[in-house]
Amino acid sequence: METVVSGIRPTGNLHLGNYFGAVKNFLRMQDEYKCYFFIADWHSLTTHPKPGDVESNVRKILAEYLACGVDPEKCSIYVQSDVKEVLELYLFLNMNAYLGELERVTSFKEKARQQPNNVNAGLLTYLTLMAADILIHRAHKVPVGKDQEQNMEMARHFARRFNQIYGSELFPEPQSFHYSAEAVKVPGLDGSGKMGKSEGNAIYLIDEPAAIRKKVMKAVTDQGPTEPNSVKPEPVENLFTMMKIVSAQDTYDYFNDKYNACEIRYGDMKKQLAEDIISFTSPIRERILEVASNQEYLNKVIAQGAEQARESAVKTLIEARKLIGFSR
Ligand code: ADP
Ligand code: TRP
Repeated sequence: METVVSGIRPTGNLHLGNYFGAVKNFLRMQDEYKCYFFIADWHSLTTHPKPGDVESNVRKILAEYLACGVDPEKCSIYVQSDVKEVLELYLFLNMNAYLGELERVTSFKEKARQQPNNVNAGLLTYLTLMAADILIHRAHKVPVGKDQEQNMEMARHFARRFNQIYGSELFPEPQSFHYSAEAVKVPGLDGSGKMGKSEGNAIYLIDEPAAIRKKVMKAVTDQGPTEPNSVKPEPVENLFTMMKIVSAQDTYDYFNDKYNACEIRYGDMKKQLAEDIISFTSPIRERILEVASNQEYLNKVIAQGAEQARESAVKTLIEARKLIGFSR
């Protein structure tokens, strides 16, 4: 059976982008593959050197994964820092990763621009750590959103290079995976780009209905079209994309027809969209609160996940060490 790995950094709560870009795929994949889903707590150090209370951030994301339906009986859910074997593979991969190629990565350049006073070596080698996360389980498939495509290209690159250098076929080339024909990109509602924590435009699964209404009502639009069937400018297109993702098809069609007939009332559309988001998030929100209050259960999930992930990681490392020449 093919193996799947994916991770999310515990730097905030899960938002609709995380859900529709990544977690929704986890729910189906856990029935079809051998899955490892982890919380990337080491990764968050590249941008948050003093992450505060790591433990409670990790538990918060864990409770959210579980509330979304990621099921520890069907897959392994673990915390990255519980699997120290990842670090040894990270070291091995770093020895064959070159400054030039790491510096050219878009996500590195972006982060270096955002935090010019903290362009640390961990940031530079973010992608060898990400590759180690994936290769440690010899994963075939990685469910991630569109923004991770270049990162996945690098993971494949490091896998191929390791295999070539050591004359082996230890690592399959991991492919990004999504069930829809195209990776989902959940837009922000602030005019342009994607929804993201760092973009400051996220609608969180844990948000109260009043907060969701407020965020949606603030969405950027325009004066409305003056010609029938006009092309939608980006902010308006984003509002429609969001509606396509969370609302029923006929709701989307209704507002789309209104737009095409130049009769769109954005206020009505936003109200409807806010209510549709709330119907989707409310049951998840309730489950998050319930799961988060059960620390004993979370402890059990963390311990069980660590054990399963380590078992798989140790097997890979024994092979990797042997290939490189370490025999103990
Ligand atoms: P953020 O960008 O908010 O910091 P992360 O980088 O932690 O979120 O992303 C975790 C996962 O969620 C990744 O698989 C990423 O591809 C996915 N993801 C995040 N934002 C979006 C989005 N707006 N649309 C689609 N997928 C997304
Ligand atoms: N880089 C991913 C992000 O920014 C998080 C991540 C780290 C990841 N390691 C991974 C995702 C391994 C998939 C597989 O969202």
